Amino acid sequence: MRLPILPLSPLLLAGGSLSVLGTLAASSPPNGEWSFVQNGTTGITALETIVVSPTLILLFDRAAGDPLQINGHPAWAELWNLETNTGFAVNAITDTFCASGALLSNGTMVSLGGQAPELAPGETVPPDEDGRMGIRIFEPCADPTGLTCTLFEDPATLHLAANRWYPSSLRIFDGSLMIIGGTNTATPFYNNLAPENTFEFFPPKDNGQTRFSPFLERTLPSNLFPRGFALPDGKVFIVANNQSVIYDVESQTETPLPPIPNSVHVTNPKDGTATLLPLSPPLYIPEVLVCGGSNTSDAIPSFNLTSQDPASDQCSRITLTEEGVKKGWVLERMPEGRMMPEMILMPDGKVLITNGAGTGYAAYSSVADTIGNSNADHPVFTPVLYDPNAQIGQRFDREGLPTTDIARLYHSTATLTPNGNIFIAGSNPNIGVVENATYNTEFRVEYLNPPFMSRSRPTIHSAPEKVAFNEKVTVGIDIPEDLAQNANSSNIKVALMDLGFSTHAFHSSSRLVFMEAELSGDKKSLTLTTPPNNRVYPPGPAYIFVTVDDVTSPGTRVMVGNGLAPPVQDQGVPLASS
Ligand SMILES: *[C@@H]1O[C@H](CO)[C@@H](O)[C@H](O)[C@H]1NC(C)=O
Ligand SMILES: *[C@@H]1O[C@H](CO)[C@@H](O)[C@H](O)[C@H]1NC(C)=O
Ligand SMILES: *[C@@H]1O[C@H](CO)[C@@H](O)[C@H](O)[C@H]1NC(C)=O
Ligand SMILES: *[C@@H]1O[C@H](CO)[C@@H](O)[C@H](O)[C@H]1NC(C)=O
Ligand SMILES: *[C@@H]1O[C@H](CO)[C@@H](O)[C@H](O)[C@H]1NC(C)=O
Ligand SMILES: *[C@@H]1O[C@H](CO)[C@@H](O)[C@H](O)[C@H]1NC(C)=O
Ligand SMILES: *[C@@H]1O[C@H](CO)[C@@H](O)[C@H](O)[C@H]1NC(C)=O
Repeated sequence: MRLPILPLSPLLLAGGSLSVLGTLAASSPPNGEWSFVQNGTTGITALETIVVSPTLILLFDRAAGDPLQINGHPAWAELWNLETNTGFAVNAITDTFCASGALLSNGTMVSLGGQAPELAPGETVPPDEDGRMGIRIFEPCADPTGLTCTLFEDPATLHLAANRWYPSSLRIFDGSLMIIGGTNTATPFYNNLAPENTFEFFPPKDNGQTRFSPFLERTLPSNLFPRGFALPDGKVFIVANNQSVIYDVESQTETPLPPIPNSVHVTNPKDGTATLLPLSPPLYIPEVLVCGGSNTSDAIPSFNLTSQDPASDQCSRITLTEEGVKKGWVLERMPEGRMMPEMILMPDGKVLITNGAGTGYAAYSSVADTIGNSNADHPVFTPVLYDPNAQIGQRFDREGLPTTDIARLYHSTATLTPNGNIFIAGSNPNIGVVENATYNTEFRVEYLNPPFMSRSRPTIHSAPEKVAFNEKVTVGIDIPEDLAQNANSSNIKVALMDLGFSTHAFHSSSRLVFMEAELSGDKKSLTLTTPPNNRVYPPGPAYIFVTVDDVTSPGTRVMVGNGLAPPVQDQGVPLASS
């Protein structure tokens, strides 16, 4: 039994300054419980997922025979409409298989890297051009249906400096993207054929030259899709394989940090996941949490590994201050091991861990006893919540979390939506589309709905389109009566979030910065203090979510910073030193 969709007032302010998702993406049980709700099917495997507007998610895959067609060949890019739960093909020129991406300071989405051309079954001419140096531009698009939005590519004139398959990219303090590592050529498992041990940027720095990284060299061969995070001082923390480092983009220096304990490997093909935990005023002390992966040695060739090797249940957490680094990684254990887990920052500051497998590895067709083609087995069907503020030993909570029956293994993705629920799609541990295996190519979309999705929710009904750093901003808010009774400035949480770019068990650029909030006497408006500067929140698009008690509002999109094309100047005020 399902309740009808809750009507949220459709809000169109003068000048279109505010976008609130007007409908729920999927209905929920009436009694305020977590639930999985299947709704719709994608036409390509959702291998890369990024929210590009309040109503649209852009998905990417490879050019190898997905059912969705465009220009007489299979598509490998798709726009998913969160209001209708349907998707349609978008034209891409180069192959986006195992690329990365992010939003720039001016709101433009950039997709980077990919693979060499490939033929789908039955084709004689590849429909795709070489994507390894690919740069694809999706300009901010106000059309809520997405039908008039386009992806721009000009591979002859607009491309990366190096071939990059399996790179990561993240938005940094000046609003541009830092692009990390990858490989020059397709490799079946380890990064041991032609690793690209360099960084580069978009728009380019250093006259387009790459920067060699000793860290990337040191972390071979399990260092694909490195997990990088922009710290509140502008430096970048990276974890790859079983090691970590802080990279200073400005002085171009690497400072090695303690390795992940117990030799747990956490990047592809031994995918654990990692997140920067929520940052809070006044000090915005950065902490990173790294979970899952595998402790089997990189000295073992892939054909001597098995799909039954247990995944690691280890979570390692570090505080990135001088003292915290001295103390090193603090260990915790998830309720079960996970290979390829997803970690999603929730607007209330908790971390949702979902997807992945209890045994085996990422990639496909490479270990001794694949299941069909899958290197992984024993899908984990039940998510778990992690509360970073609870006492150690009491942080994992599974109460009320639902169980799905859809395996989400290699090439699956998940993202928080602007509406506050979680979009989960993809999974394809196969070469092309396979429909008769234990782990098929998965097209079904599921939403994981938090309990608040079936309650009356607070709603931000007016907000500026753009906010500066270190500024007080007033937004209009409707708080349902049952929540308003007890609402006050100290029990309202306001999160400023980048929803990230999801692929390969990593949500690059994903970020949550809490803002001080003052509730007006009539409880009709909130005065927020924006982050102090562009290093605490790299300038660019964000969603504001308000949580009263445990009930989170739909997100409201704002542009944070001056909205100019990168690189942008430093803005706001320096961080108070701790
Ligand atoms: C699926 O989404 C559509 C479009 O938003 C909606 O009308 C429908 O009720 C949803 N179905 C379920 C089962 O939630
Ligand atoms: C990291 O992994 C490599 C390869 O498995 C191993 O040789 C090395 O000892 C590990 N390093 C640490 C610090 O555990
Ligand atoms: C790997 O497996 C092969 C058999 O497939 C075996 O001969 C070899 O000894 C194994 N090597 C290692 C390092 O375990
Ligand atoms: C490796 O990880 C597995 C699974 O978590 C665990 O059972 C085993 O004890 C670990 N081995 C070492 C040497 O840490
Ligand atoms: C699936 O179908 C393909 C093509 O018909 C066939 O080659 C393969 O053996 C089948 N696999 C399984 C697990 O049935
Ligand atoms: C805010 O509300 C909470 C819960 O109702 C209450 O415990 C707290 O004392 C209130 N704080 C203030 C400053 O009124
Ligand atoms: C944003 O900046 C990028 C990089 O300079 C540029 O390609 C893009 O066209 C800009 N978008 C807008 C909307 O100005």
